[in-house]
Amino acid sequence: MPQHPIKTLLREHAEIMAEAGGLRQMVQRLTVEGEAAVADALPLFAAFAEMMATKLELHRQKEDQVFFPAIEAVIGQFGPTSVMRIEHQQIHAQGVLLRQTLYELNEIQHPAIEAGAAKLRALAATGGSAATLRQAGEEITDLLNSHFGKEEHILFPMAHNLLDGVTLEEIASRFEEMDIAGV
Ligand SMILES: [Fe+2]
Ligand SMILES: [Fe+2]
Repeated sequence: MPQHPIKTLLREHAEIMAEAGGLRQMVQRLTVEGEAAVADALPLFAAFAEMMATKLELHRQKEDQVFFPAIEAVIGQFGPTSVMRIEHQQIHAQGVLLRQTLYELNEIQHPAIEAGAAKLRALAATGGSAATLRQAGEEITDLLNSHFGKEEHILFPMAHNLLDGVTLEEIASRFEEMDIAGV
């Protein structure tokens, strides 16, 4: 089958975080060098905003349109008729945590990341002080770090247990189609 979808998402996280590393270094330079670093920072911010509008956007679409709904579909099957009470409680607790996590990732952090990209793009286009650029760069790298961390430590391991082979294959082929179609 095509690459395991969780592996695909992890690989994309790694690629995006590698670029975020460059942004972090620029934040350091802005801290140390101040306004002298602004001329170098602007094109880097523009490139990062472009990456967010393309690679990161496609990644978000894979999660929002395919991966998260597949998990939600499985959680939706946890009915009140489960065999054992303890097992049921465990499943329920897992379901609640998953729902909360999905809500946070999907409804709060994904839009926040999009807003962050728009801010970076605007700053890169209109210019900004070293302090403004530094703050925006820090915000977006912190947000990506925490967002990917939550997906990698909470969501992906649960999804690994919840999704069966057929579903994983379906997700994997949808991901491939989306890669071909692009953003
Ligand atoms: Fe995400
Ligand atoms: Fe992700």
